[in-house]
Amino acid sequence: MPDLKTRLAELREQVNFHNYRYHVLDDPIISDVEYDRLLNELKRIEAEHPEWVTPDSPTQRVGGQVSERFAKVPHPAPILSLANAFSGDEVREWYARISKLIPEGRPVQFTVEPKIDGLSVVLHYRAGVFVQGATRGDGTIGEDITPNLRTVRGVPLKIPVESKTARKVTVPASLVVRGEAFIETQAFEAMNAQIEKEGGKTFANPRNAAAGFLRQLDSRVTAKRPISLLCYQIVATDGDTPRSQFGLLDYLKTIGFPVTDAVRRFDSLEKAIAYAESWRAKRDTLAFEADGVVIKIDDLDLQRDLGIVGKDPRGAIALKFPAREATTTLLNLGINIGRTGIMAPYAILEPVNVGGVTIERATLHNFDDIARKDIRIRDRVIVKRSGDVIPYISGPVVAARTGKEQVIAPPKKCPFCDTPTIRREGEVAIYCPNRDCPGRLDRAVQFFVSRGAMDIDGLGDKIASQLIEAGLIEDVADLYSITRDQLLELEGFADKKADKLLASIAASKSRPLARLIVALGIPHVGDVAAEALAAHFGSIDRFMRASEDELTQIEGIGPTIAASIVDWTRRREHIALVARLKKAGINTIAEKARSSPAGGRLAGKTFVITGALSKPRDEIAALIKAAGGKVTDNVSQKTDYVVAGEAPGSKLSKAQQLGVKVLDEAALNRLLKS
Ligand code: IVH
Repeated sequence: MPDLKTRLAELREQVNFHNYRYHVLDDPIISDVEYDRLLNELKRIEAEHPEWVTPDSPTQRVGGQVSERFAKVPHPAPILSLANAFSGDEVREWYARISKLIPEGRPVQFTVEPKIDGLSVVLHYRAGVFVQGATRGDGTIGEDITPNLRTVRGVPLKIPVESKTARKVTVPASLVVRGEAFIETQAFEAMNAQIEKEGGKTFANPRNAAAGFLRQLDSRVTAKRPISLLCYQIVATDGDTPRSQFGLLDYLKTIGFPVTDAVRRFDSLEKAIAYAESWRAKRDTLAFEADGVVIKIDDLDLQRDLGIVGKDPRGAIALKFPAREATTTLLNLGINIGRTGIMAPYAILEPVNVGGVTIERATLHNFDDIARKDIRIRDRVIVKRSGDVIPYISGPVVAARTGKEQVIAPPKKCPFCDTPTIRREGEVAIYCPNRDCPGRLDRAVQFFVSRGAMDIDGLGDKIASQLIEAGLIEDVADLYSITRDQLLELEGFADKKADKLLASIAASKSRPLARLIVALGIPHVGDVAAEALAAHFGSIDRFMRASEDELTQIEGIGPTIAASIVDWTRRREHIALVARLKKAGINTIAEKARSSPAGGRLAGKTFVITGALSKPRDEIAALIKAAGGKVTDNVSQKTDYVVAGEAPGSKLSKAQQLGVKVLDEAALNRLLKS
């Protein structure tokens, strides 16, 4: 028996330690399978000896306790809010005000950390054990959500997290820590996608979702949700804890709490502001939604002495990011037809500025979504934009309705060709089944001529529609048989414009094979896959005949891409299209695959390119390849470098997560020249 009890204690310590490696240090040292094995052994022992189960056992994270309602918890000290600033100058004004209260000669440092858009939580520890967790409530009294918080992996159940190898630290007998609970952007999107697939009601934003889950009466529901935590304050303690904000975060991390790694300390306000402002452009590289950055007086005694105004401490200020949502009027509904005939409804909006960008259109996803959110024409609607995501309508402002709004019904007929629409069993999408639908052709042509494909200069969306409406093209191959006389009959075409367009159409005939493969618009086949396909097959004819087996053997071509290619290349109309393109004189042969210099500077190195750089992405890729490097689409453990430009998005955060080296363009150029 004593042996089993020793094993039990050992297992708890190990599980807690590996949980800490994963959720706090972001550096796990065992696999998920091994972790589960430890946890399962612990569960088995506890199942045999229920009398040994304690609330701080890691098995208690699954939830189970159902509350009738939430009990009230008085906070040991006020849970304060923050004053806001919207520009660097407003931060300067803030400091000008408070510096009058700071004793002369006292050195002042500033800590800058992200302001997480989540839900404030207050965690109580007694003798190192998590005993109670509460919401902020009104700042004086919160709600007891202990069973829910216990299910959050980032909440240490026992501190300090110890193991035989970790540094020994002691923690105060009583410690109350404040943090922000939230859902990471990717986890949120995955969760909403899953809910949508199951036909459920999706969440408007990660904040609301996190708040809803934490205020669940049934903690088993909370346990299933991907809630994260970052801590930033000690609300009360009877121990000696660091007297600087920067030191405090480090201390919290050491004893077991997750803290941000984006914190910096500065000895001048200007440097702090510069760093804070730099986050405006980088906000999408954070794994979570941040609504600003917080600048804090680093000296916590000074911060306390500065006092509070209302609910805001004088010693800290939030520099807010521009809002990423706005309200505007939905003027009308537009419909795009995808290359496969899917109808994609979009909103035509009264132009509105959302986070610095003027938005006139926003996606409405599909007609089910419109009905679920009850979005009507002439409604005031909330438009959102985040990261590289296309702006979307999160919902109507029902209170602003006047009675003139019109309910939106899914179209019975295609707006482009009048063909009755269809809905396939089990799918939400509505299709125009007409393969020759001019709406579908519009998209196919736009894509075919775009920069990453055949790159036909001077053939914008308007001209594409004009050519289709005039009956000059019925598929993309027809582009190559347009005559000068035909163009001259079109509105807005004079000699010069017609000649220029014909010249760029002719020039597109010699694009590399990979570009042609992209231009065909095969679902899932992007430029990287197309490069690999062109290099492997060498000609469009061989490519068209490829089997799924042969395709999956090519590096970078997985089963999804392979299946999609075979589905495309076996259709009679596609075989005919390719034959016509060939007949039109388009290049369908790969240049003799230039063997990449085996001894090149970048030989054996794999790169991923993300964000906007000074040159098109494929030019940068060509430079890397010329030096012997490889360029792929997705960041993984195998990636050596991520080249990040402006507005880099999720690939950069993935790189940071995996510890992949990140280069800006200048660094890449140095590497190329070195
Ligand atoms: S400090 C004295 N730091 O933002 C402590 N708050 O708009 C005052 N928040 O109520 C708060 N991230 O819920 C602080 N790094 C951070 C934060 C943060 C998010 C929240 C917090 C606060 C709200 C104010």
